[in-house]
Amino acid sequence: MKKQKRLWITAAAMAVVLAGCMVLQGCSGDKKDEKKSIRIGVVLYRGDDPFINNIRSNLEDKAKTYEKGTGIKVVMDVADSKGNQNTQNSQVDRFLSLGYDAICVNMVDRSAASYVINKAMDADVPVVFFNREPVEEDMKRWEKLYYVGEDAKESAVLQGNILVDLYQDNPEGLDLDGNGKVSYVLLEGESSHQDSLIRTEWSIQTLKDGGVPLEKLTGGIANWDRSQASALMEQWIEEFPKEIEVVICNNDEMALGAADALERSGDSRPVKIVGIDGTPQGMEGLKSGKLFGTVQCDSKEYADVIFEIAAAESLGQNVQEKVELNQGKYYECSQHTLTAESLK
Ligand code: BGC
Repeated sequence: MKKQKRLWITAAAMAVVLAGCMVLQGCSGDKKDEKKSIRIGVVLYRGDDPFINNIRSNLEDKAKTYEKGTGIKVVMDVADSKGNQNTQNSQVDRFLSLGYDAICVNMVDRSAASYVINKAMDADVPVVFFNREPVEEDMKRWEKLYYVGEDAKESAVLQGNILVDLYQDNPEGLDLDGNGKVSYVLLEGESSHQDSLIRTEWSIQTLKDGGVPLEKLTGGIANWDRSQASALMEQWIEEFPKEIEVVICNNDEMALGAADALERSGDSRPVKIVGIDGTPQGMEGLKSGKLFGTVQCDSKEYADVIFEIAAAESLGQNVQEKVELNQGKYYECSQHTLTAESLK
């Protein structure tokens, strides 16, 4: 009888411990693994930027395939900041106040990331920055800050080599008038963007290193934009009639703008225009022969990585096990060259 009572007490005690464990598990870290839905907020510096828009649609596709593959429901809310940092700050505030699990931020002004970081840290919500890189001091402030982008020097060296290869094969493919100089104009992206300066510098350096005898006619900033590039190019065509042989552009949109102006001018010389991005619009330009070459970054990989980091953080998983990161927070997408010739 005494023994039976002891058994009862032991069993009851075990039941209490077990129940306690279950309750604890229900509200501790393990709960995150059992989450059946995640909410991710995305803010875009400008929704009408074709490069960004392409990443956006790849992100939306990725969210769908992730849902199908994992059974975890994804709510992804995308907001367009329309080039206004104040608007973007309010959009971030809204996602945080609604309790989103992670936010993906394409800064309007990349030097203004501290506002977003302060708010995210207060709310304990991880941030995946992309395409517009916050300064290093900002990125170091918290372990839940990530950046996904491209190596700007790599894009530029690849772009420069498209032209070096052509020159080495057939110098008159670039030096159209055969005067021993390759006369070029340069279209640059936003001056505050980390990619612009580095792309410009390394593209030109690669051409010089490759032995192309360069002569710069002129250059200007067209802020990544097709119509601004087209307007600048129109002026330059008037200023240097039939002299421009090469147009080096920091992205495909500006390359397409230059091609538009050249087409309007009626100049039928085979001026070589090169861009960077490999957007769907850029690819069309290559196919139709408007662009000579571009450097394509893998926009699917780009979006997949942004999403994978945000999803892993949302579920409390170890991000490093899902994505290989530099310094625990940076990811650079792969890039490759494309020419009209290679597409054939
Ligand atoms: C892309 C541009 C884009 C810009 C936006 C650059 O890396 O090459 O096409 O307009 O990012 O921030």
